[in-house]
Amino acid sequence: MRASLVFMSMPLGEAVTVEEAGIWDAEAIAQVAAATFPLACPPGAADDDIADFIERTLSAEKFAEYLSSPERIVLEARADGEIVGYLMAVDAAPNDPGIDAVITARPAIEISKLYVVPGHHGAGVSAALMDAILARAAALGRAGLWLGVNQENTRARRFYEKHGFSVVGTRTFAVGTQTHDDFVMQRPV
Ligand SMILES: CC(C)(COP(=O)(O)OP(=O)(O)OC[C@H]1O[C@@H](n2cnc3c(N)ncnc32)[C@H](O)[C@@H]1OP(=O)(O)O)[C@@H](O)C(=O)NCCC(=O)NCCS
Repeated sequence: MRASLVFMSMPLGEAVTVEEAGIWDAEAIAQVAAATFPLACPPGAADDDIADFIERTLSAEKFAEYLSSPERIVLEARADGEIVGYLMAVDAAPNDPGIDAVITARPAIEISKLYVVPGHHGAGVSAALMDAILARAAALGRAGLWLGVNQENTRARRFYEKHGFSVVGTRTFAVGTQTHDDFVMQRPV
């Protein structure tokens, strides 16, 4: 059953609905994930490594698992009925001790994925997804949100800064055979 329907009509943007995804959305979200993941990779990322990551991590089967996990929150944004972005969050303490050590707003939810299809960037879709996870985190009584973002992903970094996140550390992130450098950012809820 779907929960937490949020409707937002952005003053300068498009009408967008954000709601919790269901298991039946796994295939459609996987398609959006495969199309948008390369946008977050640095210029030096190899195509084979990106393809490997998509196959291992962003398949419809993996999203079916994510959508069935009690620790995961998957939100989908729709415009004109089409999925134009998604956010996946993890409501659990960080696995990585290095990240666990720098997150001070606790308990915190990780924004693991936040992706919007290119034709809908700058239109309020990403802000609607962010507002929805903030509302969910507040309803759950969580104190913070955290995330990792590639250090070269200047657009995403700017977006997160606009939404109150600040850098608290670094981590590495494996994509296929390559390892990329991320900033770790957090904000209070
Ligand atoms: C990251 C993402 C969700 C942000 O959503 P968005 O709708 O593009 O965000 P906004 O347009 O509200 O904000 C982006 C900001 O970056 C700025 N920006 C755009 N390109 C930039 C660049 N190359 N360098 C620096 N800033 C840039 C924009 O001007 C805007 O700032 P402003 O509002 O002060 O003008 C979206 O761009 C996206 O899906 N990107 C591809 C996937 C991705 O990188 N996901 C994040 C993984 S951690």
